[in-house]
Amino acid sequence: MIKKTVLITGASSGMGYAATQLFAQQGWQVYAGARRVNNIPVGTGIHPLSLDVTDDDSRKNFVQAAEKEATLDVLINNAGYGEYGPLEEVSLEKVRRQVETNLFGAAELTKLVLPRMRHQHTGRIVNISSLGGDMYSALGGWYHVTKHGLNVWSDVLDTEIRQFGLRSVVVEPGGTQSSWSDIAMGSIEKNVVPDTPYRSLIDGTLSVIQRVGSHSAATSADLAKVFYRAATDHKPKRRYYFSFSDRMMSRLARVHPGIFHQLIISMAARAAR
Ligand SMILES: NC(=O)c1ccc[n+]([C@@H]2O[C@H](COP(=O)([O-])OP(=O)(O)OC[C@H]3O[C@@H](n4cnc5c(N)ncnc54)[C@H](OP(=O)(O)O)[C@@H]3O)[C@@H](O)[C@H]2O)c1
Repeated sequence: MIKKTVLITGASSGMGYAATQLFAQQGWQVYAGARRVNNIPVGTGIHPLSLDVTDDDSRKNFVQAAEKEATLDVLINNAGYGEYGPLEEVSLEKVRRQVETNLFGAAELTKLVLPRMRHQHTGRIVNISSLGGDMYSALGGWYHVTKHGLNVWSDVLDTEIRQFGLRSVVVEPGGTQSSWSDIAMGSIEKNVVPDTPYRSLIDGTLSVIQRVGSHSAATSADLAKVFYRAATDHKPKRRYYFSFSDRMMSRLARVHPGIFHQLIISMAARAAR
């Protein structure tokens, strides 16, 4: 039997790492890319490749390596990070890099796999967004912009490629154990000016995150299973969530934006007190 092939970005850590292991265990050929190639898991069926999703040549080499397989079945656009800080103070240079990674990197990789998928009349793009693609909170502004953008981009793509038998879907993880939170929260101090007027908001927010942080979070292995469902469901859904409460939070933000906004305003006010 021909093995299925998946391309996974951001495979050196967290959910991408766990998804690489899971797809390989399920007998897939896994083309697993990240800049820290030595951190990508090893095992039968795993092809670790150096990949920087912001670099044109790197993206091409990644997809070309996978094209020797009989089919390209799934691309999982998972690479991403949070560049956090007050909108007034985060530099546009940092913002551009985040958009290049979280949104344009996914878009350009997708362009590279679509011709082959169209030719096959089958294929799926799984975009790892976030609950933060429907919701938002103080200090995460530009991260939310990248994930809201990824959601809309995926939905439009889905309307354009269905005619070829292809699908584009979104997974929206909530808080999940990985390096993500340390990187995002660690970026705040690097992005603020020395006497920032946002100090109390920042300190209050960080202390809330430390308190609720890890014990309420899903594991990366939990989310890898959601990635797998999104990649293999016979009737794929437009959105995938890990938990019922994640689904409800996303729904609150979408269906009752005024109530959601008041909630976030009062959380920010409490944090800044
Ligand atoms: N953890 C959460 O709470 C959470 C919640 C919602 C959504 N998400 C999203 O889920 C996805 C996976 O995050 P995670 O939680 O697994 O975080 P993570 O442990 O920090 O992993 C992020 C991965 O992205 C890769 N990456 C970053 N920049 C890259 C680039 N330019 N080119 C290639 N790879 C790059 C990193 O690899 P290298 O550094 O080796 O390149 C790493 O493998 C992200 O899109 C994130 O925004 C996370």
